[in-house]
Amino acid sequence: MTKKIAVLPGDGIGTEIVEQAIKVLDFLNTDMNLGFEFENGLIGGAAYDVHGTPFPQQTIDLVKPADAILLGAVGGYKWESLDISVRPEKGLLGLRSTLNLFSNLRPAILYPQLADASTLKPEVVSGLDLMIVRELTGGIYFGQPRGVRVLENGERQGFNTATYTESEVRRIGHSAFRIAQKRHKKLCSVDKANVLECTEFWREIMIDLSKEYPDVTLSHMYVDNAAMQLVRAPKQFDVIVTSNLFGDVLSDCASMLTGSIGMLPSASLDEHGKGMYEPIHGSAPDIAGQDIANPLATILSVAMMLRYTFNNEAAALRIEKAVNDALDSNVRTADIYAAGTQKVSCSQMGDAVVSALKNRG
Ligand code: IPM
Ligand code: MG
Repeated sequence: MTKKIAVLPGDGIGTEIVEQAIKVLDFLNTDMNLGFEFENGLIGGAAYDVHGTPFPQQTIDLVKPADAILLGAVGGYKWESLDISVRPEKGLLGLRSTLNLFSNLRPAILYPQLADASTLKPEVVSGLDLMIVRELTGGIYFGQPRGVRVLENGERQGFNTATYTESEVRRIGHSAFRIAQKRHKKLCSVDKANVLECTEFWREIMIDLSKEYPDVTLSHMYVDNAAMQLVRAPKQFDVIVTSNLFGDVLSDCASMLTGSIGMLPSASLDEHGKGMYEPIHGSAPDIAGQDIANPLATILSVAMMLRYTFNNEAAALRIEKAVNDALDSNVRTADIYAAGTQKVSCSQMGDAVVSALKNRG
């Protein structure tokens, strides 16, 4: 049976990194007879330029029936002065919310070959393997009301609203507890319950949910402390569950533990395991078009797609091992380059992963 994958390269380095990931997936598609069909679509600034909106109807019609979506990145200088309602980022947010992709998994794993690439001491990060479960379709990102208003005294005021309904907290909670059950059974819920009612409520629901998962140890941490602990002693964490905004910030922070933000993949899943897969880094307009970006986060996102949407653990592991082999062969893109290694381009890194796949068989 054929399975349809919607491919949305987006903006900036998006096109370059997605090309490498498709190279890898294409190889496996043939090699393992996976039956994938690819169809490209526009999102972000690229879509705005053609259709005047970052998430056009054509793209909605493409992603809705697709079995999975692979996305590059959105945004760039060119669109920064547009009204916020049509900025590239709105396309990504629209996609997440239209498809109800509420559960965002962001694993931070340190490949031993990159221990020196991290800005932290090797002993702090070696063996790191943590999973951030970020709520992706609620919180202050989507809360109403929002905007800029004029107060009675004539002064302008910008405002956003942080909201979480009980069902929103419960479903991300279930998602995180289940992931913790498959790992080391430790779940840390990150909030700001000492200041924000919305997240005090979040904590209350997490505690209630924990009764259904007696095998998982639940702990709580304020977000400021969590940011500090992530750089002080990141290996204390197994699974972190947190709100949309806190997850956005903490996952960038966690990425640097792994050597580079160019290494972190993600999965955004709905209730049924349908998913959108993207690297957590952005469109990096400063290096776009130069073929120097790191495609590994996108390639690893494809591994997550095989694991979480297509339940094909064998294929997922093949990609992860091939990435490991490529790093063993000493090739490095600029972001993870260190003396004594071989600097390669984005496409050469893609080639290195494909040849590692071929060599292992
Ligand atoms: C991310 C990004 C997005 C977010 C932006 C591009 C809208 O930073 O996926 O982490 O804030 O969620
Ligand atoms: Mg982010």
